[in-house]
Amino acid sequence: MKILFVGDIFGGAGRRIVHAHLGHLIETHAVDLVVINAENAAGGFGVTPSIAEELFTLGAHVLTTGNHIWDKREIIDWMHTVPADSHERPRRLLRPANYAPGTPGHGVYEGKLADGTAYAVINLQGRVFMSASDDPFRAADAVLEKLTAKVILVDFHAEATSEKVALGWYLDGRVTAVLGTHTHVPTADARVLPRGTAFQTDVGMSGPYDSVIGVEVEQVLDRFLRGMPAKFDAARKNPKMCAALIECDAATGRAQSIRHFMLGE
Ligand SMILES: [Fe+2]
Ligand SMILES: [Fe+2]
Repeated sequence: MKILFVGDIFGGAGRRIVHAHLGHLIETHAVDLVVINAENAAGGFGVTPSIAEELFTLGAHVLTTGNHIWDKREIIDWMHTVPADSHERPRRLLRPANYAPGTPGHGVYEGKLADGTAYAVINLQGRVFMSASDDPFRAADAVLEKLTAKVILVDFHAEATSEKVALGWYLDGRVTAVLGTHTHVPTADARVLPRGTAFQTDVGMSGPYDSVIGVEVEQVLDRFLRGMPAKFDAARKNPKMCAALIECDAATGRAQSIRHFMLGE
């Protein structure tokens, strides 16, 4: 079984480059399951219902997010259009599972592929150098206790390399893949851990790389140089799509390989 995970789509440039490559990648590699982090898909800040729809139509089975999930308020209403046990698109857009109880939306989705293979996607957020959330390690334990699927992909949306690497080891052998998002820069450490969990500290954003993690260079430089509050706009130049392709045993969920892609125009 093959899973394609696409790193944080950033703005229009990110959406366009993913649009240009995704169909071909799915076809060439016979991908079964597509998961996309969409937290920056709407101009760099959040995701709208129409952009989520567009990404599902492109081929995504599940969309994950992170700290930018609430940037576009209409997404909350959209998530609430279906019940918790639904398999409709609004239920397949996740926010991190370790947000406070009572937060809108869901942090885990369990579904079935057309051939009957059960899979689950878990979205978690780190606590180091990020706003407060519940413990992602214990949240992962609690979620895993309830899952029956063997094929399980975790999007760990976190800032600190150490926290991401630690969660990879913590979940090794218990999930198919732990893939990092949020820093928007791909790391060169994609590997399968000893007990069969594919891991990469950060898959990297799918967006404009002539930028500071997606935002126009001048605007971010000005923030660093003068410290004045200013608007951040999504950059446009040098778009690249970053994704990880994981091959796993559908019966056990054990990963066999992980390969990282960074595709330009
Ligand atoms: Fe992001
Ligand atoms: Fe983020």
